[in-house]
Amino acid sequence: MTSHDLVGVALALVAEGKGILAADETVPTLTRRFDTLGIGSTEQSRRAYREMLFAFPDIAECVSGVIMHDETIRQKTSGGVPFPEVLANQGILAGIKVDSGAKPLAGSVNEVVTEGLDGLRDRLSEYRAIGARFAKWRAVIHLSDTLPSAACVSANASALARYAALAQEQGLVPIVEPEVLMDGAHTIERCEEVTAVVLHSVFHALFEQGVALEGMLLKPSMVIAGKSCTRQASVDEVATATLRCLRRHVPAAVPGIVFLSGGQSARLATAHLNAINRLPGPRPWKVSFSYGRALQDPALEAWQGRDENLHAGRRALYRRATCNGRASVGRYTDEMEVAVLGPDDPPHRRDWRDD
Ligand code: 13P
Repeated sequence: MTSHDLVGVALALVAEGKGILAADETVPTLTRRFDTLGIGSTEQSRRAYREMLFAFPDIAECVSGVIMHDETIRQKTSGGVPFPEVLANQGILAGIKVDSGAKPLAGSVNEVVTEGLDGLRDRLSEYRAIGARFAKWRAVIHLSDTLPSAACVSANASALARYAALAQEQGLVPIVEPEVLMDGAHTIERCEEVTAVVLHSVFHALFEQGVALEGMLLKPSMVIAGKSCTRQASVDEVATATLRCLRRHVPAAVPGIVFLSGGQSARLATAHLNAINRLPGPRPWKVSFSYGRALQDPALEAWQGRDENLHAGRRALYRRATCNGRASVGRYTDEMEVAVLGPDDPPHRRDWRDD
């Protein structure tokens, strides 16, 4: 694959009105989520869930790519078609999570560094051969008055950059995901300060490793107050702080920024994305979504692991994806939400994420 092809894939992932479905939870994470709904977690039930989510052509109207976990990318539909092939037939790009999770950072309390570089070249090569066209690696940054440490930021930035360089070498577009967690009581101002440091460090490391910015996507968290902060910022404040931070720290050569939802409610994640896309002033990259929980939760709850709820689950995902597709071009409205969705989702849904 040439760098020209990488650019084409990166641009296709942020095509007008489209974004990415992150459906790459590890088996333990998805099992925890299934448990809360009384759904048994077996290889077969996880396969059926993923088939419900993305093996239907309508979803391609607003979903450009799906990020899968190792188990899923090797599975087939009930009709015997491998998932990467089903997605390709629908015009959707197949993606793969390639990190092996966040592990305690030596010498630090409460901080983690993402592992998975050992053997990564061979794994990337295999994933490309079975149909993946892009990859994802998530770094996790804990935030407090004193965290993150400089050691944590640089260790994670360096691993992200080494992964991204290997992914490009193997013909996969890297999604570079530095997540600043929403956990805690920090203010939106503190989140902006830390997000700035993290992005600065990540792009420095990407430069050092020779990553072609035109052939990658950034998947950041939004600049937002901590979950238990007494003053939650308004939608406009979040949009303004997030865009300001991105403008200062993300080079214009990056074709797209696709946010994670991070534990925001489904509707708020959409409202924030829409508000960011409606702000005046320069926005040199496409700004879209790569949501996990904010896309999947309503669908999972509608499905409940039952065949008879397949269409209800798909309808819930389609509606959520449609709202976010509109938000990615700043054309989402409250009226649209009321028309297509019920009341907002309860917070218990949002406490599942990969460790
Ligand atoms: P959330 O949108 O649920 O935060 O997940 C996105 C993701 O891919 C986390 O790695």
